[in-house]
Amino acid sequence: MDRIRIRGGRPLSGEIIIRGAKNAGLPLMTAGLLTDERLTLTNVPRLADIDTMGTLLAQHGVAVERQGADGRELSIGGPITNTEAPYDIVRKMRASVLVLGPLVARAREARVSLPGGCAIGTRPVDLHLKGLEAMGATIRLDGGYVLASAPQGLHGADFVFPFPSVTATENLMMAASLADGRTVLANAAREPEISDLADCLVAMGARIDGIGTDRLTIDGVPRLHAATHAIIPDRIETGSYACAAAIAGGQVLLRHARLEHLGALVRALAEAGVEMTEQDGGVLVRRLNGLHGADVVTEPYPGFPTDMQAQFMALMCVSDGAAMVTETIFENRFQHVAELNRMGARINVHGASAIVRGVPGLSGAPVMATDLRASFSLVLAGLAAGGETIVNRVYHLDRGYEAVEEKLAACGADIERLTD
Ligand code: EPZ
Repeated sequence: MDRIRIRGGRPLSGEIIIRGAKNAGLPLMTAGLLTDERLTLTNVPRLADIDTMGTLLAQHGVAVERQGADGRELSIGGPITNTEAPYDIVRKMRASVLVLGPLVARAREARVSLPGGCAIGTRPVDLHLKGLEAMGATIRLDGGYVLASAPQGLHGADFVFPFPSVTATENLMMAASLADGRTVLANAAREPEISDLADCLVAMGARIDGIGTDRLTIDGVPRLHAATHAIIPDRIETGSYACAAAIAGGQVLLRHARLEHLGALVRALAEAGVEMTEQDGGVLVRRLNGLHGADVVTEPYPGFPTDMQAQFMALMCVSDGAAMVTETIFENRFQHVAELNRMGARINVHGASAIVRGVPGLSGAPVMATDLRASFSLVLAGLAAGGETIVNRVYHLDRGYEAVEEKLAACGADIERLTD
């Protein structure tokens, strides 16, 4: 298993290219199941999860071909020949559940393994299933699989989410795009990745109103057609590298980043003493002076993103004063706390909140990555720590970040990947 070695204490200076958003690319790939014609995606990030989704689509008979000079273009198309999403693929990537809505809408049936929990929580999919049932699907659970069928096809429905769910909103929006009649999704999630998917579906011929709001109205059409769509830049990659510039000191230009997708994070970083301004088609991040503690509560978009909680907490470890970090989305998303404390941080967890008391400095140590965003928080801590930090199990990192060590080394960090 690869590891990453960091010798901290060096400020960052330079430019980092922000690639396409993982959490937009994954649902966009499953949109390829909604038509036999070709869906072409550009600005595709080179990530393990994207490859896993390609394997899953191939399992359904839909070819996924990487194209373009740097392999950042995907061409997806072909008839669905198999409606099963097997456990050995789904267990590796929860986002596999995003094939459920498209399979039922197109093939009128699906046998999708329940994703099961993961490091950050039990991750139920009950809202996905209830929404499909509202649209006329029959849902049965058997042997750890969801058996869904709609032999007459899906029909429009009114569905109110009890609370916003990102992939449930995406699954039901895709299913509704081919249903017979009108579907209204109320209290829907509003993440930019959902709007990016909606824009692509409209380009494919779908009829969707309310894009960007919590109320989506979808009028089903008989079929969708070919389209070409560029994936939006990854706002979580942007925020993660903004925290890198903040914790290491210096300034970094995040090329292609879009400030409008990061409001709550920009405000939290500003309160902490970090400035983010639009410049040269991207976002310039620089630490003004010292770092100050800033309280954050994770919330559905446009609130502070849960996917930035671990990274922001690493920053708070070396800030002046204290910070309260409250996680309201997932029940077990503090696994990075124990590892940060091993590096000399002072974090106490009380239920859904963690109080972080800033310390003058962290000490490098061998640490263990537990999930995607926690692994980036450990890299951040390594950048600030004295001595050497070894981050183990970086396969977690590779699921959602491209070439982290190369991007940071190019800005002056002393960081390298150790391959066994
Ligand atoms: C998406 O996961 C993202 N993944 C996650 O990013 C992100 O953390 C999460 O949204 C929240 O923003 C992708 O987009 C591929 P949810 P998702 O459904 O859709 C509960 C990363 O690091 N819930 O919005 O699975 C759920 O348990 C990943 O890139 C139900 O109870 O999250 C959670 O408490 C991690 N029933 C809350 O809703 C359901 O049917 C929000 O989850 C669905 C969700």
